[in-house]
Amino acid sequence: MSEQQVLVTRRMPPPAERLLRGAGFAVEVIDSEEPPSRAQFLSRLRGKAGLLAMLSDCVDAEALEAAGPGLRVVADYAVGFDNIDLAECTRRGVRVTNTPGVLTDATADLAWALILATTRRVCEGDQLVRAGGWRGWSGTQLLGLQLSGATLGLLGVGRIGTAVGLRSLGFGMRVLYTDARVNDELEQQVAARRVGLEELVTQSDVLSLHIPFAPESRHLIGAREFDLMKRSAVLINTARGPLVDEPALVAALRAGNIAGAGLDVYEDEPRLAVGLAELPNVVLLPHLGSATTATRERMSAMAAENVIAVLRGSDPPNPVN
Ligand code: DGY
Repeated sequence: MSEQQVLVTRRMPPPAERLLRGAGFAVEVIDSEEPPSRAQFLSRLRGKAGLLAMLSDCVDAEALEAAGPGLRVVADYAVGFDNIDLAECTRRGVRVTNTPGVLTDATADLAWALILATTRRVCEGDQLVRAGGWRGWSGTQLLGLQLSGATLGLLGVGRIGTAVGLRSLGFGMRVLYTDARVNDELEQQVAARRVGLEELVTQSDVLSLHIPFAPESRHLIGAREFDLMKRSAVLINTARGPLVDEPALVAALRAGNIAGAGLDVYEDEPRLAVGLAELPNVVLLPHLGSATTATRERMSAMAAENVIAVLRGSDPPNPVN
């Protein structure tokens, strides 16, 4: 019997390739830091039994067709799996897995990096100094938002939203959250209060998004919400870009309807909405939520373990279908 082949669609930390080869599979890595073209992705997928996919690989009916009937598992190297047509995979008997839990702390830390950078105007200050525009200490320069006493609003308090909320303790913030479920941990540890979306949007000084993307949540934060937000508030998005109507965000920032935004994710990555990059009051990161060495190594091992389990005929440790 010929070796089962696994496609890894990007260069990644070593555990995955080592584990997959050690388990006896033939591994093909698209050895690049950049996403493959769609044509390259589809052609390399042909005949594979396993796919270790990145969140930017769109695994839809066309991709599954290109892979052929031998494909048995799609292991996403991410916790969010909105890049995968889950129903189509299930219909074809393809198992889908993700990497939950291991990236919670890294992503929550990054959300706080954005909260601090945005409210305290860190990047604007850095640019001023680098450009030689600083003329000495000023009593009124780059004034930001004080976090102590301010309200942190969390839209979604799953693992990552909860971790972001717990980190607020050291900053003395009032915490509100919107979620389908009561979160006892946040209510007990940081006296968080559960509210509806409108109250969350209206009351927050820092509104941070932590829900997965699904068609129903597309543009959940748009022109209406920006009108409801405080003019001094900032929006933080480390979840998924399409949760936010990006052109409406640009308009709200330009009009001064909100004070700033810290974004790690975008509607159409890696493209940005027209005008976004020109705004001084935004901090823009290239989807770095899980990007620590330790986290990415654990994600790499986890994704490989999911592939190995399915190809050996067992249930994967992290199934999503
Ligand atoms: C994920 O895993 O879904 C994150 O967006 C990665 O940063």
